[in-house]
Amino acid sequence: MNIIIINGPNLNLLGEREPEVYGSESLSEVNTWIENHEICADLSLEFFQSNSEGSIIDFMHEKCHSADYMIINPGALTHYSYALRDAIVATQLKTIEVHLSDIHNRENFRKISVIKSVCLAQYYGKGKHGYIEAIKHILESR
Ligand code: DQA
Repeated sequence: MNIIIINGPNLNLLGEREPEVYGSESLSEVNTWIENHEICADLSLEFFQSNSEGSIIDFMHEKCHSADYMIINPGALTHYSYALRDAIVATQLKTIEVHLSDIHNRENFRKISVIKSVCLAQYYGKGKHGYIEAIKHILESR
């Protein structure tokens, strides 16, 4: 099974960026941890990060026929990107939304996700473990 794992704007700064909110590990450390997790043993994972909405959408277009599922932490795009929402619908990628922090217990604008209704599930507030929860969701829903 092929799963693409996308991280959006500013997530390249993980480890340096507000570590009290997002943790002290870098994105490549988190990705390596995911890749080496026992539940990923039989999975093909492809990681992508971009600070650009258009590049994320282009990547989705490119992968939509080869990926079985998409896990995405869209960063702040979560809260306002109807283009990202449309791309999920247009590509028909089965998508799980992940957030490191507890978006429901922060500023009000973070409580809104414009992609939630086109995703299979939303995980938040569990740090890097949210990505594993998303993979478990995929494995259990097969
Ligand atoms: C985030 C939460 C968003 O509100 C924020 O803009 C991010 C990261 C998270 O992982 O908790 O960039 O998606």
